This record gives sequence, C-alpha cells and structure tokens, in this order.
Amino acid sequence: MRSKRGLWSTKFGFYLVAIGSACGLGNIWRFPYIVGENGGGAFVLLYAVLALSVGLPLLIGELLLGKYTRRSLMSAASQIKGPSFKALQWLSLVSILLALFILSYYAVISGWVLHFVMQFVVSFIKPQMEQKDFLATLMSNGLLQAGLASVHLVLVFIVVMKGVQEGIEKWIGNMMPLFMILLVYLMAKSLSLPSAENAMRFLLYPDFSKLNSSSLISALGHVFFTLSVGFGAMVTFGSYMHEGEHVPSAGFRVALTDSFISILAGLLVFPMALQVSQSRLTDPTLIFEALPMFFMSNKAGNVFGLVFFLCLYIASLGASIGLLEVVVSNVVDRIPSLGRKKVAIIISGIAFLISTIPSFSSSNLRQVQVAGRGVLENIDIILITWVLPFVALCGSFVITYVLPDKPKQLEFCNPSHFNSTSLYGFWKWSLKYYIPAIIILGFILRFL
Ligand code: PFF
Repeated sequence: MRSKRGLWSTKFGFYLVAIGSACGLGNIWRFPYIVGENGGGAFVLLYAVLALSVGLPLLIGELLLGKYTRRSLMSAASQIKGPSFKALQWLSLVSILLALFILSYYAVISGWVLHFVMQFVVSFIKPQMEQKDFLATLMSNGLLQAGLASVHLVLVFIVVMKGVQEGIEKWIGNMMPLFMILLVYLMAKSLSLPSAENAMRFLLYPDFSKLNSSSLISALGHVFFTLSVGFGAMVTFGSYMHEGEHVPSAGFRVALTDSFISILAGLLVFPMALQVSQSRLTDPTLIFEALPMFFMSNKAGNVFGLVFFLCLYIASLGASIGLLEVVVSNVVDRIPSLGRKKVAIIISGIAFLISTIPSFSSSNLRQVQVAGRGVLENIDIILITWVLPFVALCGSFVITYVLPDKPKQLEFCNPSHFNSTSLYGFWKWSLKYYIPAIIILGFILRFL
C-alpha cells in the first residue's frame, strides 16, 4: 500500500501547511457572521465543543488514513478491496469534487479580499474615496469578481505547481508567522475600543435561547469546513508526514490552533463591527462592510485596513493552496502520467469556470433567489451545511470499519510517543457512535 512520495522537509513543515490550510476565510470571514446569525456566545460554545469532540476525532482519522496508505484519498480508496470498494470510490470522488467546488467559491471571496487590499492601497493616493464605494463597486460588477477570482487562482496555481517542499511548505511557512503577528496586533487594537465590552459579552456569554433548530448542523458544517475535514485534505497532508510523527498529538495541535484563531478573529471583528453598526452582525458581508467603515472613520484607518485585508488575503491564499493541492494530488496519484503541472493547470481552469457562477451572484444573477437567498449564499449552505456533514458522516464509517485496527492502535498506544489505551477506546467509540449520532441529530433538527 505504501508508495514513495515527497515528505515535509521538517516536522514544523507539516504544522505550517496543515494549520495554514485550516486557518482561512472560514475563521475570519465566515465564523463571525455565522456566530452573529446564531446569537453569539451559546453558538461559540457549541462550536468549541463540537470542534474538539467531533472535528478532532475525524481530523485524526483522516491524517491516519493518509499516513498509513501514503496516498491521497482517491488512490487510498482504490487500494481497499472488499464489499465497500464501490461505495468508497464514490465517497472519495464526492470529497474531491467538494474540494473543487469549495475552491471555486473560495476564489470568489478571496477575490473580494484582493479588491479591498487594492482599494486600501488606492486610498493612499485618493484619500477622499468613500469606503461604501469599495463594496458597491464590487457587488455590482460580476466581471470584476470573476477577474479577481482568476488572479487568485493563478497565484494559487503557481505555488501548488512547484510541489510540496519547493512551493507549498516554503510559501505558507513564510506567510504564517506574518499572519499571526498581524492578527494579534489588530485584535489588541480592537479590544481597546469602547465597544469591546459589549462585543466580549456577545461573544463569550452563552444565551442558549438564541440557538435555533439549524444551529447544530450549521455549527457542525462550520467545524468541518474550518478544520478542513471531509475534503480528503488531511489525508493528503497525512500522506506526507514523517514516520515518527504522532498523529493524535498533531491533530490536537492543528484543531486547537484553528479554534483559537477563530475566537481571536471574533475578538478582532466584533468590537470593530459593534463600534460602527449593530445590525450587520448576521450578514455575510459583515467584515467587508463594517470593518472598512470602521477603518475609514479612524485616523490612519487606511493603514489598518490595508494590514487587515492583507492578513485576510494571506489566510485565504494558504487555505486555497491546501484545496488545490488536495485535488491535484488526488488526480496525480491516480493518473501519474499526466504530470503535476498539467493537472494543476486543468484543475485551476475548471475551478475558474465554476467560479464564474458565484461571481455573478450579486449582479447579473441577482434575481436568482431560492428561499430568499442569492446564488452565492445557497452554494455556501448546500456545500458546507448539507454535503460536508454528510461526507463527514460517511468518513466516520470509513475510519471505523475500513481502516485496519493495527495502524490505528499503533498511533494511540505507542509507548515511544504517548501510550493511551483509554484514549484509543474513546476515539473509536466517538467515531462509531457519538459522531454519527450527533450529525444525524443535526440533520433531523434542521428538517423537523
Ligand atoms: N479550512 C479553511 C477555512 O477555514 O477557510 C477552508 C479549507 C481549506 C477547507 C482547505 C478545505 C481545505 F482543504
């Protein structure tokens, strides 16, 4: 089952890429408005509990599958014989297609971020520019959104084409520390605002009456999205891991860092948003509307605006690199004769074609509404709240029934790392009973 493939050049390389891929728009753009939509603190608590009790066991399972097979998801699935063979093939295909669709949709939002980076740069030359024009110009122009998405995809393509160590590890390795410094600096600035107290109460005080029947499935979908679980991404990253690396500890560090960054992003975004407006907390345009408004109403605000959106762009680039890498590595593992470069070009091209649909969501396709939502929001809900939890549910069965016991046990009960039989038992129990039950409950509550 094992094949020779590139490994991360250092242990740290794995963390940089896994965390770089996990921390993206999900933490900084999506988390705050989903929290706003679901009433604040109680949802944050639900999210944190689910991240550690549902997301983490699945994340460990995906990494293990990759490390054990030394292959990406589709090719690992093709190695498994037996009655589940056909189902596995389909499941892995759905996962990879999900990564492709998310990449396309992600490219559009990343394009928005690029637009704000450029607008803040221009604001140095034209200081009289109004911040509300930033968003209005973008929303009314589908071609501009498609163009920006294509620029983003070209940048992502260039990095992925260079391969694991040359491209991905080096790029994300350089970007991650900068990202963390910027984030902490902006959070400190945000927490010094008069609105910080209200924001903290909103974010950290749990009022369970604010949760609704779709909160559970929304929280689950977001946990999977933000931890990059269900796309086969962690299988790919696990396949490049060093033999001596302890998977459960690695998974724990990734999940903890990712959840910590989401909370950090909440602490950064809410004081600023509350400072300028009370009503925008539930809107997907939350950070694109309220934050520029806040930045531009402050002295040297354009410097902070530029820093913030640059930081967000770095995060979205890291995550997009992860998404493209997953699709490319799966195709290259299945059809090696095609070559990495050709595959990366084809996949980026397809992602661009798909991205044109959400690009026109707020302009030419504005009239296309389902359940009161536009194209882009419906794509988000279908992919993240419906398909992703379903794939994660199937994933828990695969890890439980298809992945052999030996490698699983070895990782948990290895005395040279950390010998915990009870933790191993708990992990297996959660994948077999707890996780399927909670995902099914989420669906039932949603459709009741
Ligand atoms: N976890 C990323 C985010 O929170 O923005 C999204 C993502 C990146 C999902 C990479 C899947 C993936 F492979």
